[in-house]
Amino acid sequence: MPTPTLPDAIANALATTRMGTPLRYRKTVGSTNAEAAAWARKGAPEGAVVLAEQQTEGRGRHGRSWLAPPHQALTGSIVLRPDLPPDLLSLIPLAASLAVVDAITAYALPQPPRIKWPNDVLINGRKCCGMLLETATRGAPPHENAFVVLGIGLNVNQTDFPAEVNATSLRLATGQSVPRGPLWAALMQHLERRYDALHTPPERTALRTAYAERMLHRGQSITLHTPGTATTHTGTVRGITKTGALRLDTPGGPMSFHAGEVTTRSA
Ligand code: BTN
Repeated sequence: MPTPTLPDAIANALATTRMGTPLRYRKTVGSTNAEAAAWARKGAPEGAVVLAEQQTEGRGRHGRSWLAPPHQALTGSIVLRPDLPPDLLSLIPLAASLAVVDAITAYALPQPPRIKWPNDVLINGRKCCGMLLETATRGAPPHENAFVVLGIGLNVNQTDFPAEVNATSLRLATGQSVPRGPLWAALMQHLERRYDALHTPPERTALRTAYAERMLHRGQSITLHTPGTATTHTGTVRGITKTGALRLDTPGGPMSFHAGEVTTRSA
């Protein structure tokens, strides 16, 4: 039997009610986030996905670019239409990073994956997944045309990374090649569950607890670099607030931050 294409392999394994469909699969795009946003403006439903083999202008956080070779990674963006107050939108990438952890835990990893706040997923201290959330709200509430695009870059079968990048892939971590179709389908299923949990208060609380338990730096001293400023804050990570901000115990007392980049002396 011929090997199924990536969209066929996903369709064969997908068991969600809406996350992951409809799917647009592209050989090359500028950025899947940009293409998903354009589609959302034209009415793409919640759960719609743009998946690409190659991005010519892949976007990372803090204005960086995101590079991944074709046929080795999963590079995709999901359209979401959350029914959440604006201050809870920042929980979406946290829920999504838990979904990635759920999906990759099915593989024989040498150590449980951990989340570096807010939404990097790491194995053995190396990044295997990054996310970029882009929101569009227009006009007055209830923001009927509002949407969120969640971009996910997951390192699956790469075997080489530039020396300056602290990255890994599932293949490097497990020693085995990982079929991408079933992995994306599983990720959509976990994403649907974690994202739906954000919409009911008791489940939202449980999700925050699950997230805090998987934080890489919980209880550790870190430095937070806040974007667009030269400011840094050092403190011990205590978890997250109700809206997903990073809670730090600093020498000046408890503080919380909605944006920034965590570093430690070792990374
Ligand atoms: C980061 O860690 O810096 C975020 C990386 C996000 C990359 C993904 S790949 C799919 C989607 N399209 C983009 O242009 N970026 C995101």
